[in-house]
Amino acid sequence: MADNLFPKDFLFGSATASYQVEGAAYEDGRTECIWDEFSRIPGKVWCGENGNVAADQYHRVEEDVALMAKIGLQAYRFSVSWSRVLPNGGREVNEKGIAYYRFLCQTLHRYGIKACLTIYHWDLPKELEAKGGWANRETSYAFQFYAETLYRELGDLVDMWITMNEPFCFCYLGYGNGVHAPGRADWNDFASAVHHANLAHGLAVESYRKTGLKAPIGIVWNPILPRPATGRDEDKIAAERASVFNNEIYMGPVFGKGYPTLATSEFGLKFPIEKGDEEIISAPIDFYGINYYNERPVERDSSLLGFKDAGTWEEETAMKWPIVEKGLLRVLRWMDSYSGHLPVYITENGSAEEDCVKEGRIHDKGRIDYIRKHLGVMKEAIAEGIPLKGYFYWSFIDNYEWTFGYTRRFGLVWCDYMTLRRIPKDSAWYMRDVIRSREE
Ligand code: NOJ
Repeated sequence: MADNLFPKDFLFGSATASYQVEGAAYEDGRTECIWDEFSRIPGKVWCGENGNVAADQYHRVEEDVALMAKIGLQAYRFSVSWSRVLPNGGREVNEKGIAYYRFLCQTLHRYGIKACLTIYHWDLPKELEAKGGWANRETSYAFQFYAETLYRELGDLVDMWITMNEPFCFCYLGYGNGVHAPGRADWNDFASAVHHANLAHGLAVESYRKTGLKAPIGIVWNPILPRPATGRDEDKIAAERASVFNNEIYMGPVFGKGYPTLATSEFGLKFPIEKGDEEIISAPIDFYGINYYNERPVERDSSLLGFKDAGTWEEETAMKWPIVEKGLLRVLRWMDSYSGHLPVYITENGSAEEDCVKEGRIHDKGRIDYIRKHLGVMKEAIAEGIPLKGYFYWSFIDNYEWTFGYTRRFGLVWCDYMTLRRIPKDSAWYMRDVIRSREE
C-alpha cells in the first residue's frame, strides 16, 4: 500500500500567469503588452474581454497565498509581467514592479510555499512587438536582459525558474495562424519566432549559470504525442509529423538534437540560425515541465503539415477537450527517453468545468475526476522509474482564459468577477486531502 503513495518529496502546487490573474494593468508603472492590444481588436477575444482586472491578484496577494496554504499547496507557479518590471520593454527597472514580485515571493515563503517563477508567459511588451516581436532576433536579447534583471532582483527569493511557457502556443498561435496575440499569420515569421524563442531560452540559461544562483532552471512545453487514428501506415506518418510540429522543433534544439529535417524539408520552415546558436540553445537545463490537457488522434491529410485531428469519442471538458489521461503517460514515456531521463514536472494540468455556486459551494465533481485520473497515470509513470517530481494544477483560481475571456473556469478556487470574492471549490478540498495523504 505504502508503495503506492506519492513520494514524500513530490511537490504539489498550482499555477497561474501574470496577464491571466494580476489585473492592475495600468497601475504602478506597468505599460501595455500584446494582450492588452490584441483584446481590443474586434472579434479576437470573447466580448473583447481583457486582463485589466482579471482575478485582481495584484491587490490580493495575502488573501490568495493564505488560501493556498489552507489548501495545503506546497508551491505556486506564477509568471512575471515583463512590462511591469521593464516598462515599454526598455532597460529601466520599475522598482514598484519588482517590489510586487518580492512581496509575492516573501508572502509565499512566510506560508512555507515555494516560489516557482515563469519568466515569460505570453505577455510581450507591445513596444517589442512593434519592432517585430518574436520574429525579430533582437527580442531574444531583450529577453536575456529581462531574465538577467529578474535573476538580480529576485534571485534570492525564487525556488525554481522557468524561462518560458509553451513556445508552441506563443509562436504558432501568435505568428503562425494568428489566433492569439499578436495575431500574425505568416509562415516565415512563425519559423523566425520559433528560433528566436529557442534562442531566448538558451541565452537566459547561459546568463543564469553565470549568476551562481542554485535554484533549478528549466522550460515548460505542451507536448502532445497524438496517436494515429487507425493502424494504417498513413496515419502513423501523420502522428510522426504531428510530433515534429508540436514537439520536436522546440525540444530538439534544447536537447542538442537540432531541428528535425522534416521541419525544413516538408513544412518549409526556414529557421534563421546563426553561427553558435545551436550551442547556446542547448545549454543544459535542470528539469523540464509538461503542460498536459488532452490528446486527439490524428490522420493523414493533404495539407502542408500533412496531418489533421481525427474524431474522438472521449468525454470532453468545457473546453471541448477530450479527457485522455493515458495520453499523459504516453507523453511522459516519450519525453523521458527524448530528454535523456531528465527530472520532469507536470507544470499544468486541469479542467474547465461548468461550475456554479450552490448555497455557497461549488460541487465540481468533473474536475475532481479529471485530476484523479491524471494523478493515477502519474503514479504509473513514477512506478516505471520516470523522474516525475511534482504536479501543478492549472489553475489556482479562475482567470482570463485568453480568447475565451472569462467564460472558461479552470480554478480550484472560484472567482466572483463582480465582487472578486474567492470561494474554494470542492476540488480545492480534494487537493488538500491528496496532499495530506499522498494518495489520489
Ligand atoms: C496553457 C496555458 O499555459 C495557460 O495560460 C492556459 O490558460 C491553459 N493552458 C488552459 O488553456
